[in-house]
Amino acid sequence: MGMIRFAILKAFYSYRMKKKEGSKAKGKPDATKNGVVKAEKSKRKEEEVDEEDEEDEEDEDEEKEKDEVEDEEDDADKTKMVSIPEYYEGKNVLLTGATGFLGKVLLEKLLRSCPKVNSVYVLVRQKAGQTPQERVEEILSSKLFDRLRDENPDFREKIIAINSELTQPKLALSEEDKEVIIDSTNIIFHCAATVRFNENLRDAVQLNVIATRQLILLAQQMKSLEVFMHVSTAYAYCNRKHIDEVVYPPPVDPKKLIDSLEWMDDGLVNDITPKLIGDRPNTYIYTKALAEYVVQQEGAKLNVAIVRPSIVGASWKEPFPAGKGILRTMRASNNALADLVPVDVVVNTSLAAAWYSGVNRPRNIMIYNCTTGSTNPFHWGEVEYHVISTFKRNPLEQAFRRPNVNLTSNHLLYHYWIAVSHKAPAFLYDIYLRMTGRSPRLRNIRYGFNTILVILIWRIFIARSQMARNIWYFVVSLCYKFLSYFRASSTMRY
Ligand SMILES: NC(=O)c1ccc[n+]([C@@H]2O[C@H](COP(=O)([O-])OP(=O)(O)OC[C@H]3O[C@@H](n4cnc5c(N)ncnc54)[C@H](OP(=O)(O)O)[C@@H]3O)[C@@H](O)[C@H]2O)c1
Repeated sequence: MGMIRFAILKAFYSYRMKKKEGSKAKGKPDATKNGVVKAEKSKRKEEEVDEEDEEDEEDEDEEKEKDEVEDEEDDADKTKMVSIPEYYEGKNVLLTGATGFLGKVLLEKLLRSCPKVNSVYVLVRQKAGQTPQERVEEILSSKLFDRLRDENPDFREKIIAINSELTQPKLALSEEDKEVIIDSTNIIFHCAATVRFNENLRDAVQLNVIATRQLILLAQQMKSLEVFMHVSTAYAYCNRKHIDEVVYPPPVDPKKLIDSLEWMDDGLVNDITPKLIGDRPNTYIYTKALAEYVVQQEGAKLNVAIVRPSIVGASWKEPFPAGKGILRTMRASNNALADLVPVDVVVNTSLAAAWYSGVNRPRNIMIYNCTTGSTNPFHWGEVEYHVISTFKRNPLEQAFRRPNVNLTSNHLLYHYWIAVSHKAPAFLYDIYLRMTGRSPRLRNIRYGFNTILVILIWRIFIARSQMARNIWYFVVSLCYKFLSYFRASSTMRY
């Protein structure tokens, strides 16, 4: 559209110039003509004054048009001249959450599509006995990076793992690392967050709000920062009917909440959490809304952009369509909107949004709702149908098993499918791993399964029926008698 407008304005402008030149040539007074009466002379003079006024107005209009054309030209040049890979050329990018679902895909796409990016600092914490460097190395050796490894075998040199625990004061950065980051970072992608819906409020605030604020404060010290890209969620304001590309007022002043959490004990925090989160469903959504406000307020002097994805799903195209078939059941209503966005779409949006803000330097914070919404509605019932039929037609390589979906809004049916589709196969798979001398991979799932089974038995059979309670007491007294007998008989031997 911009280009078309630009072409029309340019054509219009040259047409006006030609017309003006023509009219000037035509309207030139003939100085050689004699015998012109005074009245005619003064009339002509008046006409000349009018003409001059008109010309002045025309000149002003032309100036304006010229300015507009130049502006359009500038805009066109900017977008035409700097492509996304060109923009990232020679830039130093800082990425948080690189070990997470979205961060990994972003890292891969950035290095693959913008091969001339100078370096990527990834802030990673130590975990499970692994150093940040070891963790990053493990990720880079994964299948996700196969394509990049083929296309650009030297890509590893560009990735610099930096030890950082975001929940610690000053992000637990060493002085040297901090200096390097401050001196050279050009673009920040802040993806790290706790995405657990049931995270306790203190921890959710610590990572999603306080760490974001700390990163903004660090960004303010950066010498050549161009863009701060914050990844939020489309559900940050899910309590509203319409969500525009604006940051809405927060449910509570984040500073006041942070101060209060400092003196409250965990019990009190848990007690007031439902009241605080109000009509938002969980602490994740609540803290992500607070984080947006912090980014907007504290980052007012920075060039900030926010991307709000809805539910980030498996990749659509890049680097390869994905899915393992592990998750098979979910509690959902078939008629509810399934606002799924493929991870590669979210990543492309984030990279393009940072490019746009970096090139155009918009005056206001840029916000992108990266959702399907009602523009292209897709319901959970359809997800069930499409997943089953698609994976029947296109089986996955190395899938744990064929992906399947059982969606139900019924609580009991949901738990039935969890037991049949998740827990039981995990249990059998663990047995298989043990029998083949390998350590069980799904042990936690199995422990969870056992615990849930015991609780279910207790709730359904013991806590509710008198008969089961009698049986329970009978079994317990039998065990007690057996133990007493065992103790007595063992004492008798001595
Ligand atoms: N997934 C979705 O459906 C979805 C939807 C909308 C928005 N988002 C947003 O997208 C972003 C990324 O989400 P995701 O799905 O990729 O989450 P994820 O897979 O859980 O990844 C979270 C990342 O944050 C890092 N992190 C957590 N605590 C940290 C700490 N204390 N210090 C340093 N790093 C820490 C994790 O590192 P470790 O590996 O060390 O734990 C991990 O790299 C989040 O901001 C989320 O709100 C996600």
